[in-house]
Amino acid sequence: MKKKITVPEIIALKGTDKKAAFVTCYDYSFARLVEASPVEIILVGDSLGMTMLGYEGTVGVTVDDIIHHGKAVRRGAPTTFIIGDMPFGSYNESVEEAIHNANRFMMEIGCDAIKLEGGVRSAAAVKGIVNAGIPVCGHIGLTPQSSANFGGFKVQGGDAGAAKALLEDAKAIEAAGAFMLMIEGVPTDVCQYIMRHINIPVVGIGAGIGCEVQALVLHDMLGFTDWVPKFAKKYCEVGKMAIEAFTAYHDEVVNGTFPTEQYSYNKKVEGLD
Ligand code: KIV
Repeated sequence: MKKKITVPEIIALKGTDKKAAFVTCYDYSFARLVEASPVEIILVGDSLGMTMLGYEGTVGVTVDDIIHHGKAVRRGAPTTFIIGDMPFGSYNESVEEAIHNANRFMMEIGCDAIKLEGGVRSAAAVKGIVNAGIPVCGHIGLTPQSSANFGGFKVQGGDAGAAKALLEDAKAIEAAGAFMLMIEGVPTDVCQYIMRHINIPVVGIGAGIGCEVQALVLHDMLGFTDWVPKFAKKYCEVGKMAIEAFTAYHDEVVNGTFPTEQYSYNKKVEGLD
């Protein structure tokens, strides 16, 4: 059986050449497959708004949505480290509300940690949740919940001033007690600059080479869609394979070549007129 990575083991990756892999997951069937692989960390991400619910972005996702999907993921991946993603509106009203929602993720999903977006502006929520005994992963850079402020899903930290502001965000999240920091959608140089100045491991997505932990969205890496962002490598073409399978199935049904005896219960039953 897989041995679940621990928070101290993740922290110990900092500054070593050891790495861990991180993928989003939103349901039982895929969680079983991730569990059967060596991938160490699952995020029940608010990207489920797009991948599972067909929303344009992440803002409509609720705490109950993450809990509903997260419970299924936990059933499928009992020994994979699971992070629950705090959705928009679940930590920006008060620290008490942030702790309340983080508690729900721990108790109802059985998460190992939670993640929330924002740097300086989210530091009080991170501190409150950490003080409540819950491991927190921060998330800065291209933070999808606030992408309207950036004019869409745009690479962040494009000049030295912006990179320095991101470092202030990173330091605020580290000082608030986060054990790991996600950096999304920044040039490699900017991510490396931040990594040189903080002491917690970084999980990178679209943040270049060399992060201690590397993340991808499951639907991107499995190739559910033709288009994926530049940083997302497709490791297979599940979308194309599924369409080919549906088409072959449809053709065999309409031309009568499926089902055959091989796919039928062939016991002879007497006495039927
Ligand atoms: O919800 C999500 O998919 C994320 C990614 C950036 C990993 O937060």
